[in-house]
Amino acid sequence: MKIVVIKGSPRKKGSSNMLAEQFIKGAAENGHRIVELDAAHMSIHPCLGCSSCGMNGECAIKDDNSHIRDELLSADMAVFVTPVYYFGMSAQLKMVIDRFYSYTIKLSSKHLKTALITAAWDSDDEVMLYIKEHYKKLCRYMNFTDMGMVLGKGCGTPSMTAVSRHMEEAYILGRSV
Ligand SMILES: Cc1cc2nc3c(=O)[nH]c(=O)nc-3n(C[C@H](O)[C@H](O)[C@H](O)COP(=O)(O)O)c2cc1C
Repeated sequence: MKIVVIKGSPRKKGSSNMLAEQFIKGAAENGHRIVELDAAHMSIHPCLGCSSCGMNGECAIKDDNSHIRDELLSADMAVFVTPVYYFGMSAQLKMVIDRFYSYTIKLSSKHLKTALITAAWDSDDEVMLYIKEHYKKLCRYMNFTDMGMVLGKGCGTPSMTAVSRHMEEAYILGRSV
């Protein structure tokens, strides 16, 4: 499979990217081809809501998002990687998802496999509730098949993440796809 990993943290060596690396290690061991896209360090702008694309045409904005679009439209699986920011995904990742708008029909007809990898400081039961529900709804709307979620509670810093059970969990998810 071609697996596109979309990273949404401004911290290149941060917790969510550490978990993503574990996933990638496992998936690569299974022989999958991994394409990593660091959306947080690409030039991507928010959707203008101009509807010139009609949800199935050219986006009016010319930026690095066209690269993400091309990679996703030739992928078998996408992995969404993000820190938890105020109980949701980062703005960096949300911009990529909002920009699905111009190719929603094409992307949803691909029936992509997907996964979610997150990191948050808190470790209470509620911290992942809203990001998880958002992701699940996105999967239903976009005809994605969820292959698994790594909900990295208590992963507030790289040192916290390094000793968390979520590192192994991410690796096992990678091995399972
Ligand atoms: C703007 C901002 C909002 C945050 N919101 C939350 C939050 O709602 N809940 C939480 O547990 N941690 C929150 N955090 C902490 C991060 O989720 C946490 O430090 C995480 O490890 C960052 O992942 P990263 O290193 O991959 O960027 C927030 C951090 C920032 C900078």
